Amino acid sequence: MCGIVAYVGQKEALPVIIKGLKRLEYRGYDSAGVALLNESGLSIYKKKGKVSELEAHLDTFSSLNSKIGIGHTRWATHGEPNDVNAHPHYSASEKFAMIHNGIIENYEVLKTDLQNKGYVFHSETDSEVFIKFIEDIHRNNDCSLEEAVRLALHKVVGAYAIVIMNIEEPDTLIAARKGSPLVIGVGEDEYFLASDATPIIEYTNKVIYLDDYEIAVIRQNQLQIKTIENVETHPYINQLEMELEAIEKGGYDHFMLKEIYEQPRSIADCMRGRLDASSGRLVVGGLRDYMNKFQNAQRIIITACGTSWHAGLVAEYLFEEFARIPVEVEYASEFRYRNPVLNENDFVIAISQSGETADTLAAIELAKSKGATIFGVCNVVGSSIARATHAGSYTHAGPEIGVASTKAFTAQISVLTLMALKLGYQRGMIAETRYMELLHELETIPGKVERALQLNEQLIKIAEIYKDARNFLYLGRGYNFPVALEGALKLKEISYIHAEGYPAAEMKHGPIALIDEEMPVVFIATKDSSYEKVVSNIQEVKARKGKIIAVVTEGDTTVKNMADHVIEVPSTEEAFVPLISVVPLQLLSYHIAVMRGCNVDQPRNLAKSVTVE
Ligand code: F6R
Repeated sequence: MCGIVAYVGQKEALPVIIKGLKRLEYRGYDSAGVALLNESGLSIYKKKGKVSELEAHLDTFSSLNSKIGIGHTRWATHGEPNDVNAHPHYSASEKFAMIHNGIIENYEVLKTDLQNKGYVFHSETDSEVFIKFIEDIHRNNDCSLEEAVRLALHKVVGAYAIVIMNIEEPDTLIAARKGSPLVIGVGEDEYFLASDATPIIEYTNKVIYLDDYEIAVIRQNQLQIKTIENVETHPYINQLEMELEAIEKGGYDHFMLKEIYEQPRSIADCMRGRLDASSGRLVVGGLRDYMNKFQNAQRIIITACGTSWHAGLVAEYLFEEFARIPVEVEYASEFRYRNPVLNENDFVIAISQSGETADTLAAIELAKSKGATIFGVCNVVGSSIARATHAGSYTHAGPEIGVASTKAFTAQISVLTLMALKLGYQRGMIAETRYMELLHELETIPGKVERALQLNEQLIKIAEIYKDARNFLYLGRGYNFPVALEGALKLKEISYIHAEGYPAAEMKHGPIALIDEEMPVVFIATKDSSYEKVVSNIQEVKARKGKIIAVVTEGDTTVKNMADHVIEVPSTEEAFVPLISVVPLQLLSYHIAVMRGCNVDQPRNLAKSVTVE
């Protein structure tokens, strides 16, 4: 939530920052702004709306040359999206400018204090309070800006990644973080800062992930990092493996479509090096040191939000079926405040694409404090969750830029499937021959997803028919119940059509009242252990004249005779079906949203990385 970019070096800062902000726009797009420093002073330019609107605004200024600058793209927390609340914010003297990603929880107390001292506030943001608070400390203590930041950070409560420019030190950026991500790109005589590595990758692959409670003082050719206790640290320089093409659209109209189409590859990448069915080899590297804990866990608790929580629900079926360990799947936001009963025999799996979700991070900290072992399933390398967990496995889906999660979901399920099979086998719950059968089938999944993608033309036609529907119901059972939830979430978040997912059998306990000839009902009715039951549920909808769109297994004839539309996906093991059955639902949502003129990559009110609770 909120993207920040900064640059100091030999280049023109503005183009680097604007390009970076565009890459980070998925984090929020309520407003955008930059601050630049040159002979004419420290100037801020900001605008409500997308980075492109800021760009158009900047075109009206002639000389913006600067070798140092900061930029921000906002997802509004305090104060509505408008020009005034946009970042950067000046300090009272306008000598400092700051960008901030996060939330300062005690900002009202600080603001009242500052107002009593005569400070005036122009915006409704906590961030303006933050920089004015820093300046107040700077004035009162007659200290350096770095020292003022350090003292301020001891007093603020909340989360932040900040970068500050100072008119009196025109070659220096001061950055700090707690709770919100901040990556420093290390170039030749230049430094880049950003909320994630995507704005940095085209300039350098050397990055430092700033840790919580660290302050960096960055000049063109000098970087110093200290803790807020003033102890110098010696940061580790990571080599990024990300390729530039991975963060570009590559000929697709939208990132979401590109990412849907990447799934055969991303699932294969997730399994690469971990699974070799011919030799029966299944290695989940991250588990190595924790296998004992995992195998002997009395309970597996999965915690996540949104789509990642849906992947967790699929994993509940997987772990219980294959490993016979009880599983609970928890919304991180509920879990963290529920005083849950937890102990050192619990194995907690935290799932997160971004690795930055505030609620998931808080749930991890809580579980850690109770002695549980925490395993992370994250996509973003070096993210906060990846670093906060005891161990973990990356999903290797590559950067996911579309706000609606697609390839991250199937990659999460892929990792969790590998974990469940490994655990089940180690615990002696899966016989050797069955295990080999499952491994062989798992290897065929990328090819089957490829085939599911060939349904695109058919889904465009279905989308055309239902694009103006006001409601949708998604129904599935067993492994396809989380898929129904995910299908509904995909549709509502990008097309703004109200959609609900339900276990198919629950329909008659309420939602059936909604069904009439106007209501499209998407059934995920693949041939599995609950197929016959789902067929009965389809009959019930048909009897009430609902429109039936059914995802079925190739060759199905029973449902064909009942449904208005059937979408045939390749058959596979019941446990692996979600990896395939979700694909047509992703495509259906995508096409409906495009036909309705929605911005599928940046749906309203959403942000990809939810760093506030
Ligand atoms: C939906 C979506 C969100 C995320 C959720 C958790 O398409 O993307 O529901 O799944 O915000 O985010 P991560 O996985 O980054 O923790």
